[in-house]
Order: sequence, then structure tokens, then C-alpha cells
Amino acid sequence: MCGEVRHKIYKSHPLPVPASLGRGLWLVTDCACIKQQREQERENRERLLAIPASHPLPLALQAKSFDGFQVTELNRHAFESSRSFARNFDRIDNGRGIILTGPSGTGKTHLAAAIANELRDKYSVAFVYVPTLLEQMRTSNVPLEPLLNADLLIMDDLGTDRATDWVVERLLIIVDGRLNNLKPTVFTTNYGLHDLDARVGMRVASRIIGSNLHLFLKGIDYRTRHVKYAPKLP
Ligand SMILES: Nc1ncnc2c1ncn2[C@@H]1O[C@H](COP(=O)(O)OP(=O)(O)OP(=O)(O)O)[C@@H](O)[C@H]1O
Ligand SMILES: [Mg+2]
Ligand SMILES: [Zn+2]
Repeated sequence: MCGEVRHKIYKSHPLPVPASLGRGLWLVTDCACIKQQREQERENRERLLAIPASHPLPLALQAKSFDGFQVTELNRHAFESSRSFARNFDRIDNGRGIILTGPSGTGKTHLAAAIANELRDKYSVAFVYVPTLLEQMRTSNVPLEPLLNADLLIMDDLGTDRATDWVVERLLIIVDGRLNNLKPTVFTTNYGLHDLDARVGMRVASRIIGSNLHLFLKGIDYRTRHVKYAPKLP
């Protein structure tokens, strides 16, 4: 299209190689359009992985911090471990992440968001609400690269969807892909480790349980802490 002539050139191998590979190979030089196309592809890739990540935190979670978390005896361990996970993030090289479990309203998503907020200036952090992600995957082509390559991925509310073969397969691609890339993931779920099998399938559960720190949150539902429920009728 640019009219530039593309030359065919012969390049000898820079080092001795087995005779079967020949002495070199024919290459064709790039014209301006091809160079531009490559540049565009590289830019797209970088934009997807740029900071803030392609899946930034939802607005309501952007303000969640460790400072804003009320520590009690029922959540102290999860709080401190989450904070030290974030503070020592640069030293993690084995892909080990965290799984936060506990009942509704105990602060799982809050802690996951606080981790993301501490790290998102320095690292590519992707946040996905798992039920929404699965719905998006059902209806459109979700690019996997940012999910597999983000320095940190938060998978919020794992196990909400029924573990159909299709769901299990999608989760496996993400969970396994990140483990292979040695990239840590933070999961939150309402389900205990024993129930995870049934919720996400054995193969996903095995990987998640085997390669993450387990943190349990207990306590009251923070969302309804001020609500006075009417006394139960006898
Ligand atoms: N210990 C806490 N200190 C301050 N705010 C808290 C605490 N625990 C929960 N919250 C707040 O309560 C709300 C609900 O918490 P969060 O979303 O983290 O619950 P969750 O454990 O993820 O619940 P679910 O299982 O329903 O998703 C949020 O606004 C969160 O910021
Ligand atoms: Mg939550
Ligand atoms: Zn051209």
C-alpha cells in the first residue's frame, strides 16, 4: 500500500547450526505499513497491560484501604496477612497468592481491594468480579492476555456460578495460566475450602487450594451492622 519495495535478502545463520537447517534463510524486509502495523500491535498489547490495568477497580472499591479497615480479633490475621502480602509483593516469585473466605459482609472484597489499591501505581493489577467475567465470556470475546499476564489478578466472588463444564474450563484457563506464568492471584469466596470442589470443580479447586495462602474472615455482616432485626416470633 505504501509503495515501498520489499527486498528479499539472504541472511546467513550467525552461529554454526546443523547442516539440515541450511546456511541461512531468506527474509523479506518490512515496508512502512508493516512496520506501522507491528507498532500498533505492540501499542495495543502495552495498553492492555498498562497501569491502571485494563480492568480497573470499580469506583466503590477504589477508596478501600487497609487504613479504612476496622480490625477486630475475628479478622486480624486476615488483615495483617493481606497487608504484608501487598507490602512484600515485589518479593513474590512463585505465583503464590491468597484466598479470602468467609460469610457475607466480613470484609473479603474490602481487603482484596485494599491490596489492589496499594499495588496499582506500581504494578499492573486487574480486578474481575467472577460472575460478570463469566457472563462477558459467554456473550463476547474477552481478551485473556491481561488476565493471564497482569502482575496481580483479583478474582472476586469465586464459586457463585454453578460449576458447569464450560465454567470450569474458563476458570481453569485463567487459574492454570497464571500459575504457569508465576503470577499471583487473590480470590475471594463465600465457600469454605471443603466446598470449593463442588463450586468450581476439582481441578480448579486443587490448584487454588494448593498454591495460595488461606485466610478466613469471621464476624458480623458489616453491611447490616446497624440494622435492628425484629425479634423472632416464637
Ligand atoms: N472490618 C471492616 N472495616 C471497615 N469496613 C468494612 C469491614 N468489613 C467490611 N467492611 C465494609 O462493609 C462492606 C461489605 O464488605 P465486603 O464487600 O468486603 O464484604 P465481603 O466479605 O466481600 O461480602 P460478600 O461475601 O457478600 O461479597 C464494604 O463496604 C466494606 O468496606
Ligand atoms: Mg465480596
Ligand atoms: Zn507497504
